[in-house]
Amino acid sequence: MITIAFDGYSSCGKSTMARQLAATIGYTFVDTGAMYRAVTLLALRSGLVRFDDGTIDETQLRSLLANTVITQRLNPQSGQTETFLNGENVEREIRTMEVSDRVSIVAALPFVRTEMVRQQQAMGQNGGIVMDGRDIGTTVFPNAEMKIFVTATPEVRAQRRYLELKGKGENITLEEVLRNLEERDYIDSHREVSPLRQAPDAVVLDNTNLTREEQAAMLLALYEKRIEALQ
Ligand code: DC
Repeated sequence: MITIAFDGYSSCGKSTMARQLAATIGYTFVDTGAMYRAVTLLALRSGLVRFDDGTIDETQLRSLLANTVITQRLNPQSGQTETFLNGENVEREIRTMEVSDRVSIVAALPFVRTEMVRQQQAMGQNGGIVMDGRDIGTTVFPNAEMKIFVTATPEVRAQRRYLELKGKGENITLEEVLRNLEERDYIDSHREVSPLRQAPDAVVLDNTNLTREEQAAMLLALYEKRIEALQ
């Protein structure tokens, strides 16, 4: 069993395709963005993010994080992976705009990344994993046997995310979603520690004009080719 790394921009459908590939080939799927979102929720709930300038009480967050366990479990009924913060299901709360607006700042903190990367490497130490994030093929698993870098135009990504949030009852405009995406992409690509970057050996998948079925077929073919090459 190999390690499969998915990296790329916000809301380009990475999680959906990574989850689907994992289910098809019987691997474990890990959504690392959800882990950073759970840490952000922890900081927000504990009042550690200042609302005027967005700064974070890092000392407090560091000590809170030391006693925090973030886990993910597949819900067999929905087929979705759910995220738990110290045992509490926070899947719905970590997807709100309140968390999306702050997550890139929290994910840029070096001590947060060190701890999350440690947990992610432990999860994938035996292979058989499909991990989705921003730095999986570059930092978490630089030796992953299969690396995919996913991208799509900001407009297409914003439109997809907007429909998803609307479907969940969020009161939001397409412009707000687009602004949030562009802001996050900028911060994620320009932070000092493990910025979002395409690994040199990653296969680029631009899904602006691809259907889910076409993507799934391409990924499965790539996976089979990698396995064949490794035998
Ligand atoms: O994939 P997502 O949109 O749920 O990720 C939320 C945020 O977490 C995103 O803005 C960047 C950050 N992130 C990261 O820095 N490193 C990862 N491996 C995954 C996500």
